[in-house]
Amino acid sequence: MKVLVIGSGGREHAIIWKLSQSRVVDRIYCAPGNAGISEISECIEVESKNLSTFVDFVKYEWIDLTVVGPEEPLAKGIVDLFLKEGRKIIGPTKAGAQIEGSKVFAKEFMKRYKIPTANYQVFNSYTYAEEYIRLKGAPIVIKADGLAAGKGVFIAKTHDEAMDALKLIMKEKVFGPAGDRVVIEECLQGQEVSYLVFTDGKTIIPMVTSKDHKRLLDNDEGPNTGGMGTFSPNPIITPELEKEILETVIQPTIMGLRAEGIIYKGILYAGLMIVNGKPYVLEFNCRFGDPETQVILPRLETDIIDIFMSISEQRLSKVNVKWKDEASLCVILASHGYPGTYKKGIPISGLEMVKRLKDVMVFHSGTGFDEEGKIVTNGGRVLGITALGQDLKDARNKVYSAIELIHFDGMQYRKDIGLTV
Ligand code: AMP
Ligand code: GLY
Repeated sequence: MKVLVIGSGGREHAIIWKLSQSRVVDRIYCAPGNAGISEISECIEVESKNLSTFVDFVKYEWIDLTVVGPEEPLAKGIVDLFLKEGRKIIGPTKAGAQIEGSKVFAKEFMKRYKIPTANYQVFNSYTYAEEYIRLKGAPIVIKADGLAAGKGVFIAKTHDEAMDALKLIMKEKVFGPAGDRVVIEECLQGQEVSYLVFTDGKTIIPMVTSKDHKRLLDNDEGPNTGGMGTFSPNPIITPELEKEILETVIQPTIMGLRAEGIIYKGILYAGLMIVNGKPYVLEFNCRFGDPETQVILPRLETDIIDIFMSISEQRLSKVNVKWKDEASLCVILASHGYPGTYKKGIPISGLEMVKRLKDVMVFHSGTGFDEEGKIVTNGGRVLGITALGQDLKDARNKVYSAIELIHFDGMQYRKDIGLTV
């Protein structure tokens, strides 16, 4: 089989790493990929603004299946386009991807189906939004409606911070039309968990549980990022809590979408806050998480192609998905300045040494090659050092020992991933 993966981060590297172990996959392409991905697949440049170029490529190369990593092509309707052309692709249609692409859609949908989430109001008027913030007081959460590369959410601790966020989104339009509307919601306090499932629109198969660490610095301090480290399993999610998440969040979501004419196929990712033992949805994502995928897929025993094909053909109930009874942990090595501005093109050393370590995997996020073909940094999040271990402590020790061997100027990372759970 020939498979195309769209994307260029650690999530896509982990998907391709898993696909490369499949007994039926003999060729993998990635558009556009990165330095690490190019070691195990063929990276191609495709004009990604124009989705039909992907269809042309898939037809020309006789690709059997396409897997979409990031949310943007899904929100723009890449799945609808592929299905119209009779091509297999993993991910929801444009209508389904609204669950991530529009926070207003997601909140109103949750209200319709009584899915637990923070209380909120939607505003398209700056003046009314300002008034509401004054009325409610801080802390309060301000969210741009549309996709904002993970930067559109502001947790305002004070009234001034809330007003600054509102101005940025609605007046200065830093996210463009994504900020035409805002969701203003109550600030939930609790423990954050990531809960991902495979679904073909009928059957739901949970992935192993995980936890992301969104803040840049140890002890959850500093600004929000795309994610600085993950581990799996997440011990916060007991079997009882998992049952509740499935019954109150995941099943009503898939069923609610179906009731609205949307057969949601692919990955559904619920970002949850556990408040007094109960799950509340912070956000939905219509794709794999990054860096959750880097800890989830190393624990998957089943051939991932069997899962993907059965999602596409709506026979997921026939697949017996098996997971390794081990723990995994991933620490992101980021560029100095991330999540703000950072330099690119900085040489990375030690990668060859880490390759020799047992149970350790390096998933590249933002890497490229210099003129001499050496691997250099090419993004804010650069590498995800991942290990499997008999428990979280063992996986953590392996990851941090491996990090000792890797260096690039300005490298920053959290030291506390998996330290407290
Ligand atoms: P989102 O993109 O909506 O998941 O928001 C990004 C991050 O902001 C989440 O991972 C949480 O850490 C935080 N967050 C979002 N909504 C809330 C909320 N209502 N209360 C507290 N924290 C939140
Ligand atoms: N790790 C958070 C996300 O993928 O959105």
